Amino acid sequence: MKVLVSDNLSAVGVDILKKESGIEVDVKTGLPKEELIKIIADYDGLIVRSATKVVAEIIQAADNLKVIGRAGVGVDNIDLAAAGAKGIIVMNAPEGNMITTAEHTMALLLSLSRNIPQASSTLKNKKWAPKEFMGVELFEKTLGIVGLGRIGSNVAERARGFKMKILAYDPYVTQERAEILGVELVEMKDLFERSDFLSLHTPGLADGTPLLGKEQFDQMKPGIRIVNCARGSLIDDAALIEAIKSKKVAGAALDVYHKEPLDLDSPLLEVDEIICTPHLGASTGEAQEKVATSMCDQIIDYLKYGNVRNAVNVPSIDAETLAKIQPYLTLGEDLGQFVSQLIDGPVTRVDIQYKGEVSTMQIKPVTNAILKGLFNRSIDEINMVNAPFIAKERGIEVQESTSSEVHEYTSTVQVQIISESGTRKVTGSIFGNGDSRIVQFDEYHMEAVLSKNMLVLNNMDVPGVIGNLGNILGKNKLNIAGFHLGRQKEEGKAISIVNIDSPPTTETLRALRDTSNILSVDSVTL
Ligand code: NAD
Ligand code: MLT
Repeated sequence: MKVLVSDNLSAVGVDILKKESGIEVDVKTGLPKEELIKIIADYDGLIVRSATKVVAEIIQAADNLKVIGRAGVGVDNIDLAAAGAKGIIVMNAPEGNMITTAEHTMALLLSLSRNIPQASSTLKNKKWAPKEFMGVELFEKTLGIVGLGRIGSNVAERARGFKMKILAYDPYVTQERAEILGVELVEMKDLFERSDFLSLHTPGLADGTPLLGKEQFDQMKPGIRIVNCARGSLIDDAALIEAIKSKKVAGAALDVYHKEPLDLDSPLLEVDEIICTPHLGASTGEAQEKVATSMCDQIIDYLKYGNVRNAVNVPSIDAETLAKIQPYLTLGEDLGQFVSQLIDGPVTRVDIQYKGEVSTMQIKPVTNAILKGLFNRSIDEINMVNAPFIAKERGIEVQESTSSEVHEYTSTVQVQIISESGTRKVTGSIFGNGDSRIVQFDEYHMEAVLSKNMLVLNNMDVPGVIGNLGNILGKNKLNIAGFHLGRQKEEGKAISIVNIDSPPTTETLRALRDTSNILSVDSVTL
């Protein structure tokens, strides 16, 4: 396995990779895009920070790449859709720099309230001017936090130490969590109207529109001070400058920008009330060691053992969960593959029902395994990562449902495929010995073993059919390993699933199809 580190990563992380047997590591930083495109096919893993822009062209050339690791939080420098479609897992290291970034936020809050950078540079320019830099206290002021995630909560905890009152807007955080953090959850407008300081801690919005523009600045409490240590795209810079000029906003401290590195003739640098740091939020030795260590451990864990942690484009599965759901991953893939060979026309919808014990497990990976099975025969490079992307790309609607209800089996997984030519449904279960079986196919109940080669017959439920089948298979030297029958007495029809030791020839299939009372015959290979 070869791993490329294409940005400056703490040496501690690179050493972890170097010491790992079976992993070769190359550190090549600052490569232009064209160079990266030329060499990327040699690598199984790629580790970046924020400098390398992992664009679609690089991903398309990455024929052996299995994982991209981002040593940090934001994955906005990686084309997630292109990686997903190519079956490449993208992971981040979200916890390593949260404390450091929360501390940088506090540093900027204090800098803003006491004009520290401006005062320092004035003095260094040989001017003693204390009266120009009258500040404000944080004590008993209101801090509004947008995004109460890892960094937002750490900022809240630290700001409480300064005896600030803390409000937060985060539509995904529960009241209970906010209460534990000592934070009042409010609506965005309320947050703007009541905050003396505002700090942003959310990812950039997907469509790139700013969270703070003229409309929002107009709603804010006059004299508010704003800190952005999250992403530059969250603020409309021109509207911010305007709001500062009109005195609506007293000042802002920015660590992140729309375009990085920031253009040195940016108007942001011309405004005295704006403090700027060059994306330093995560820049401490401690944070860089933590993100590098976690990312390198994660990459090894995935490349060598298949454990997925902190993945942003597929569900993460730890080793314990993986062991528990492994039989269902195999069952799911087999069911998807089985039914894919019994449908005609493009699939439009997949309905998956998890019942019983399996419904309490992590089902997303099982769904992905079903989709992988469904596409196994039609798409070359299919895996559990790109299967859901491909389903989406092809406009296939995928629905999952869970129920604790159980009947004969402790768990069942039902896959219903709707194609332009009809609907087929197969239900599977895991038996005590770990064997996976089909327990229902369309409306027929049975207990059929899933094996490499199978024949699926639709026949009239009359005497002689099984005898004729045995004769034809015997004549064609096909050994029967198992036979499973599902009957619909009222209709006088049956479905037979026959396990055979080798695949049937076209002549065998023709002979079976020409046999009376056999309505259809399909060969299925897993
Ligand atoms: P996180 O995922 O733990 O927290 C983000 C929070 O934002 C979540 O609680 C989420 O519910 C909330 N959220 C999402 N969309 C929202 C919206 N529209 N309005 C309000 N809340 C919303 O992430 P984190 O680790 O705390 O990181 C936060 C941001 O900081 C990220 O953008 C990350 O890239 C950035 N970051 C910057 C630096 C730096 O160097 N300046 C360092 C680390 C992280
Ligand atoms: C992140 O998203 O982790 C930060 O932007 C810090 C970094 O530059 O890695």
